[in-house]
Amino acid sequence: MTRNLIARSAATALLALIANGASAADGAAIPQRVEALLRQMTLEEKVGQLHQLSDKEFITGPESAERRNLESDLRAGKVGSMLNVKGAADTRAVQAIAMQSRLKIPLLFGLDVIHGYETIFPVPLGEAASWDLEAIEQAARIAAREASASGIHWTFAPMVDIGRDPRWGRVMEGAGEDAFLGSRIAEARVRGFQGAKLGGTSSVMATAKHFAAYGAATAGRDYNAVDMSDQLLYETYLPPFKAALDAGAATFMNSFNTLNGVPATGSAFLQRDILKGAWGFKGFVVSDWNSIGEMVPHGYAADLSDAAAKAITAGSDMDMESNAYAGSLAQLVGAGKVDVKLVDDAVRRVLTKKFELGLFDDPYRFSDAQREKQAVNDPAHRAAARATAAKSMVLLKNDDGALPIKRGVKSIAVIGPLADARRDLEGGWIVKSHAERVVNLVDAIRAQAGSGTRVSFAAGCDIACAGDGGFAAAVAAARDADVVVLAVGESWEMSGEAKSRADIGLPGRQGQLFEALKAAGRTPVVVILAGRPLVFENVAEQAKAILYAWLPGSEGGNAIADVLFGAVNPSAKLPMTFPRHQGQIPITYQQYQTGRPVTDPRDVLYKSGYIDMPNTPRYAFGHGLGYTTFAYRDMKVSQDTMKADGKITLSFTLANTGAVAGTEIVQLYLRDPVASTVRPLQELKGFQKVVLAPGKQQQVSFTLNRDSLAYFNRKLQWVAEPGRFELMVGAASNDIRLRTNIELTD
Ligand code: NOJ
Repeated sequence: MTRNLIARSAATALLALIANGASAADGAAIPQRVEALLRQMTLEEKVGQLHQLSDKEFITGPESAERRNLESDLRAGKVGSMLNVKGAADTRAVQAIAMQSRLKIPLLFGLDVIHGYETIFPVPLGEAASWDLEAIEQAARIAAREASASGIHWTFAPMVDIGRDPRWGRVMEGAGEDAFLGSRIAEARVRGFQGAKLGGTSSVMATAKHFAAYGAATAGRDYNAVDMSDQLLYETYLPPFKAALDAGAATFMNSFNTLNGVPATGSAFLQRDILKGAWGFKGFVVSDWNSIGEMVPHGYAADLSDAAAKAITAGSDMDMESNAYAGSLAQLVGAGKVDVKLVDDAVRRVLTKKFELGLFDDPYRFSDAQREKQAVNDPAHRAAARATAAKSMVLLKNDDGALPIKRGVKSIAVIGPLADARRDLEGGWIVKSHAERVVNLVDAIRAQAGSGTRVSFAAGCDIACAGDGGFAAAVAAARDADVVVLAVGESWEMSGEAKSRADIGLPGRQGQLFEALKAAGRTPVVVILAGRPLVFENVAEQAKAILYAWLPGSEGGNAIADVLFGAVNPSAKLPMTFPRHQGQIPITYQQYQTGRPVTDPRDVLYKSGYIDMPNTPRYAFGHGLGYTTFAYRDMKVSQDTMKADGKITLSFTLANTGAVAGTEIVQLYLRDPVASTVRPLQELKGFQKVVLAPGKQQQVSFTLNRDSLAYFNRKLQWVAEPGRFELMVGAASNDIRLRTNIELTD
């Protein structure tokens, strides 16, 4: 928000607070306070509550809505919420203008606080690779603590869209391909952002987005149409939303895509039948940026007014940046085209959240410059970011114990376009970069290697890596080094919204830089930084060690060095399948058996395979190595038959058989081999993180009930069909160590 607004409005702030007519500290219950306020509102004021505009200077979408009369509209109570205003001073100043309106209804400030506010955590997909629900919850809590102190009431996160197509740039913002893991992470993030109850000033409202099926954009192209069966929708794409709702998510955001021909923003099936109907959601739905307006180019609405009518009818409560509600809703009600009850219902939902946040009692309670300063500079936040980043890095390959790097080696050459990167480590979707405070990888290696080790650096090329002009210098730097570390991958701008890539290889000639080092006899340890799974076959085949570091955040360089030197033993597991080739996309571990399965990749005649490569991925869902080894043994089940209301406990022994302490993420998969609708070959049903000292072992148990065996049948009923089920326990979806069968008897 412009600075001149701040000065002008500061004086009115106190006055507005005192005069806040709606601030009834009379103990009346929120529903009564909402109704009392609603009765005083004109239709225009009601519509104002459903109108959300972005700040002028920081916009996160194409310029769409008019912002010319912003200040007078705020004063007239014609705006209910703003996004992209941030900082205690600015939010306070803008709020003060809104508090001059007739009914003094406070604004809601929303912002995309996706993986940290000022302290940046790994991109959400990276964080998901930790499978560490406590760490994920803590990351969201810290983001909430920082953002809320700077006046933010509401984050547009978590994104809980399932992503199975790594070309789609927004896989970076989600938790990967799996509904079970995605649901647990959705819950953790909602808990982290919101805290125990809305209203605490160190919490923000969460948004489960993008409802729904946005992640299935055809061909991985952002905003593209989605066509899918109801089964797939119910079974895979909806569960993380339901989990977020059950964890208390205050708001939902709808999405840009069409689903089976209907824009999600105009879909009563999604928003009224499922979300507000069957699921009983009591919060409000915000549209995505101009997604109401975009129903016109979609070919679903004739004009903006038609779009407004369709969106409110379908259950879209707040209009982000379309100006459709502000421009047409009152007339639509006047003309009898939209029932005012729909408007009232939407307004009620929005006001309820404002009351729950305590804004009617103090509209400035979140904008606290002193708390803001403390929160964003809290060293504990940096420490948590470093620990979480290290937990998120996946050791994809480690032949001959190439990692960890032994301390005391004479020399290390750090090569590659990302070796000295700072901004890229932070990743996309951050609201404020502090690249200057990021320790890059070369410096982190220098710091951890100690003074006895000579550390040299040569980039070789920039990220686009269009030419090989710098390769010779890189090879020269590597030539006499004991250890060569090569940092390659994507820039921060290559993943996220509108960052779909048709080619998800290492950019430009980065793969050839690896080859050049290899040809010089200096096979490097490869660190890959990216916001999505990439395809890097030559590296995967020829490197001895590969660490997938994602885009690891403010403390990324330090965290990578922690793992490279073994201060942290890596434990992360892939939340998304890594294909060998982009022709395999979409690819997921949740494959269905065909009538002609491939049993030998060399024999695909009349089989469901490729003649030019195996069906299997390069790295499977759940894959990830560490510096120790684990043995799985002695699996037992409490009984091998179960009634519909019963339970089965499965247990086994996990032993650390290596030389160092380590953490194993054990995974439980299920297959229903014969069902009235064919079931996937594997479905994740449980996981646990187990920390074990070398030589130690521990009993690990999972409990299954009817829900663990159930699925949505053709009629979309949640059923568990009697019969045999296969249970698989292992270290990855393709590294199953123990198997057994159980039977559901009724
Ligand atoms: C569009 C994105 O799809 C959504 O995720 C985001 O919250 C809004 N823009 C606001 O920035």
